Amino acid sequence: MSETQSPAGPFSALRLDERLRDTRLFFSQALRTFHATGSIVPSSRALADALAEFVRERPDPAQPLRILEAGAGTGAISRGIAAAMIPGDSVDLVEANPEFAAHLEGLLTTDPELSRIADSARVHAKLVNEMGPDRRYDAIVSGLPFANFTADEVREILDYYFEVLEPGGTLSFYGYLYTKEVKAVIARREDYLRQARTSWVVQDWIDRYGIRTDTVFANLPPAWVHHLRKPV
Ligand SMILES: C[S@@+](CC[C@H](N)C(=O)[O-])C[C@H]1O[C@@H](n2cnc3c(N)ncnc32)[C@H](O)[C@@H]1O
Repeated sequence: MSETQSPAGPFSALRLDERLRDTRLFFSQALRTFHATGSIVPSSRALADALAEFVRERPDPAQPLRILEAGAGTGAISRGIAAAMIPGDSVDLVEANPEFAAHLEGLLTTDPELSRIADSARVHAKLVNEMGPDRRYDAIVSGLPFANFTADEVREILDYYFEVLEPGGTLSFYGYLYTKEVKAVIARREDYLRQARTSWVVQDWIDRYGIRTDTVFANLPPAWVHHLRKPV
């Protein structure tokens, strides 16, 4: 359900208040930990819906999915995933920042969209690759700010995703438009080169496994959404 479809009146006012609280918390954490947070405001609903495309469009419409969301933050993308989930689906919401993770736990009882999936969702306050190799997922949605990481960190995370992804499963993630161009102008040389190396790694994975890329302009900043499929 999109925000524009929600009922008017006190319920809407409550949701606006909750969204402002999410945004304040996100902004304050971004100021403290920009490297890990990677943006200053939560993602838009348009970006969340684009990332949840392969939760909504499933090969077998009756087959439940095991879903992993990495870097769930204040739940902006989790809401898009929740809206696409069907009975029987389950989702692990992984978030390294303990303040965000605690906030997400609360949202699973208070947020109208997230409370709907509370019985099928689990919050994990840890780094995503600390989830261990024994898990299996049909769809992974990653909100991690790859552009802030080193090439080795990104390779390790992408390797982990493809280790726990079932053959035929999908990985969806995003990157902001024009990051490289902006960094070329404002970043120090070593940061620009670090990001160039990181984007080569990401592009290599897209070239090998990419099945679709969408552009989402209705987000701050606008973003690419990449969907990859693990070969069967
Ligand atoms: C760009 S924010 C996205 C937040 C939210 N999904 C959204 O789109 O509004 C990235 C989030 O990933 C978290 N994060 C960064 N590195 C992580 C890691 N290795 N494992 C799990 N979470 C991580 C950060 O704490 C932050 O909440």
